[in-house]
Amino acid sequence: MKPHQATRIASLDRTRQAFPALTREDNGHPVAYFDGPGGTQVPRPVADAIVDYLYHHNANTHWAYPTSAETDAALEHAREVFADFLGGRADEIVFGANMTVLTMHVARALARGWARGDEIVVTELDHHGNVAPWVEAARDFGLVVRTARMIPETGQVDWDHFGDQITSRTRLVAVGAASNAIGTVNDLSRAVARARTVGALAFVDGVHFAPHALPDVGALGCDGFVCSAYKFYGPHVGVLWLRRDLLAAADFPRLIPASHDPPERAETGTLNHEGIVGGAAAVEWLASLAEGPTSLRERLAVTYDGLHARGERLLHRLWTGLAEIPGVRLYGPTPDRPRTPTVGFTVADTSSETVARHLAETGVYCSHGDFYAHTVIERLGLHPHGLVRAGCACYTSEEEVDRLLSGVAALATHGAGSIG
Ligand SMILES: Cc1ncc(COP(=O)(O)O)c(C=O)c1O
Repeated sequence: MKPHQATRIASLDRTRQAFPALTREDNGHPVAYFDGPGGTQVPRPVADAIVDYLYHHNANTHWAYPTSAETDAALEHAREVFADFLGGRADEIVFGANMTVLTMHVARALARGWARGDEIVVTELDHHGNVAPWVEAARDFGLVVRTARMIPETGQVDWDHFGDQITSRTRLVAVGAASNAIGTVNDLSRAVARARTVGALAFVDGVHFAPHALPDVGALGCDGFVCSAYKFYGPHVGVLWLRRDLLAAADFPRLIPASHDPPERAETGTLNHEGIVGGAAAVEWLASLAEGPTSLRERLAVTYDGLHARGERLLHRLWTGLAEIPGVRLYGPTPDRPRTPTVGFTVADTSSETVARHLAETGVYCSHGDFYAHTVIERLGLHPHGLVRAGCACYTSEEEVDRLLSGVAALATHGAGSIG
């Protein structure tokens, strides 16, 4: 992190102005959205790009008239934007409904080429979007899934145990770059290096990572990386980067007349054109927050540096404020460890849903439950109520954090039992 870069992004006020959702009120309170890890709000330029596509360029692909050619160009442009965003090549970018569907698709396509008894390693810390597809593929193709433990006290993967799961039969490790439940940022270089010792592939779930850190698939050294634009200010669309040779070779289910060339061979049926256009617009909007450099990737780097610095301040305020409230328990890595500004907590004797409902009455929107990271919740001993999750996004202010803290403090002090 270069501190001087932190000042080179749009101010918080200017950033917030782009989000119509921030004008919403609830019970007379402006709404503070801490639900970003479940899906962020959308800035106006992103919605405008979607509307512009639907109003003026809407068509199917590969035909001989202008709107079809414009659609081809828009999809090609989006592949280039996401190649810059992820650090790969445009012909390695695959679009799909969401991360889970894309991963289901990849898991089947790869597993079809493996032998019975081959192995896949997943982790307890992962969202089940990066577990279930591999479990399903294992069931269908006679593979073995091994699960690496998480350490409940630190919220990290037990890397020794992870290493123990890798054998000469391991074909792939599926690891999350960051935990959507408790914010842990994983040491991916360790996971990738361990996979490589047996020639296994590394597939990375970047859904919770990409809103907080600029991905770089080359630096990570992974073979696949998947994310979802609705977590970083875009619409609901999934984006996959798959190394070109894998993309060309994997046995994707296909329709005979459809293109067999990468990346289209991995995209079954007609795509969500407007979602893809909006996803690319979200990346371009993020880049537009940077002042200075000219290339998209460089501007993204400046934006992410600036947002990271802001996020660290918010995280510190949120974490220390919550820690001071009697009865509040925090989970996951402490702020001095690699993590995102996503904080999971509980309030003594109060269900996570009760806390979330109480906060919502004051316009503070937090998610609750297991967030599909249900092995995390089990290992933390929090089944069935789960956690309250407060995630800071690019539009989060210190004042909003303070409102969240006051709401939790009021609930903790005035006896949660009476409220819920
Ligand atoms: C870390 C993580 N992985 C995977 C997913 C699943 O993503 P999608 O909803 O795009 O299938 C989510 C969604 O919340 C997530 O947070």
